[in-house]
Amino acid sequence: MPARNTPERYGYIAQAMHWSIVGLLIVQFTLAIIAEDLPKGLDKLMTLARHKSVGITILSLAILRLAWRFVDRPPPLPPMMRWQAVVARFSHTALYTLLFAMPLTGWMMSSASNYPVSWFGFVQLPDLVAPDPALKEALLEIHHGFSKVLIALAGLHVAAVLKHQFLDRDGLLFRMLPWRR
Ligand code: HEM
Ligand code: HEM
Repeated sequence: MPARNTPERYGYIAQAMHWSIVGLLIVQFTLAIIAEDLPKGLDKLMTLARHKSVGITILSLAILRLAWRFVDRPPPLPPMMRWQAVVARFSHTALYTLLFAMPLTGWMMSSASNYPVSWFGFVQLPDLVAPDPALKEALLEIHHGFSKVLIALAGLHVAAVLKHQFLDRDGLLFRMLPWRR
């Protein structure tokens, strides 16, 4: 399989980034759910520290992925109705936007609540905003709201992929998988 995209399918660089982000998002939501259920204390802080580090990793991969998309143009969408193509483009753009908006609102929220952000303890990241309890509350609402939108869009995305794969039988899923149909 080629490293770069072809007119028929994604190359392995784009595929590796797509699936690493999917895997990390699953870890990320799991950590958020675990942290939410923990009482205030060291365990909660440690779980949230991991959530922040994984979130910063997702942000870095999203930057790389978007940059790579400009270098290596994606394959054109397979034949579909016009409205479907519009929905597909819109949802891909919204998914990319959320891959930036989720980590950035999380990072800003941590800075606003005067908690430092580090990447697995190796790299200390700068504060994005000054401490501000009211801003922290607003960012928490936004972070929480965006996470719901991300789940809804990911659900729509997976449903669309499965519809193409199993109802239209156009092999769309294989464009993002290393093996051929
Ligand atoms: C794609 C990346 C991310 C996703 C999908 C995500 C998702 C979530 C979710 C679902 C929650 C639970 C929200 C709730 O129901 O109250 C949460 C909480 C939180 N997130 Fe993230 N997050 C991401 C990145 C980040 C980053 C990069 C940081 C900080 C650097 C961060 C900091 C936090 C904090 C501090 C909380 C707990 C807020 C509180 O309860 O006080 N998140 N995140
Ligand atoms: C929440 C997790 C996910 C996110 C954020 C996401 C994001 C994206 C984005 C932004 C694209 C467009 C790629 C581009 O053209 O640059 C894409 C394509 C694709 N995704 Fe996902 N995806 C997720 C989960 C999944 C899952 C679970 C599947 C499998 C069922 C999947 C299958 C695909 C396929 C097959 C394509 C290529 C569509 C085509 O050939 O045009 N994705 N994904």
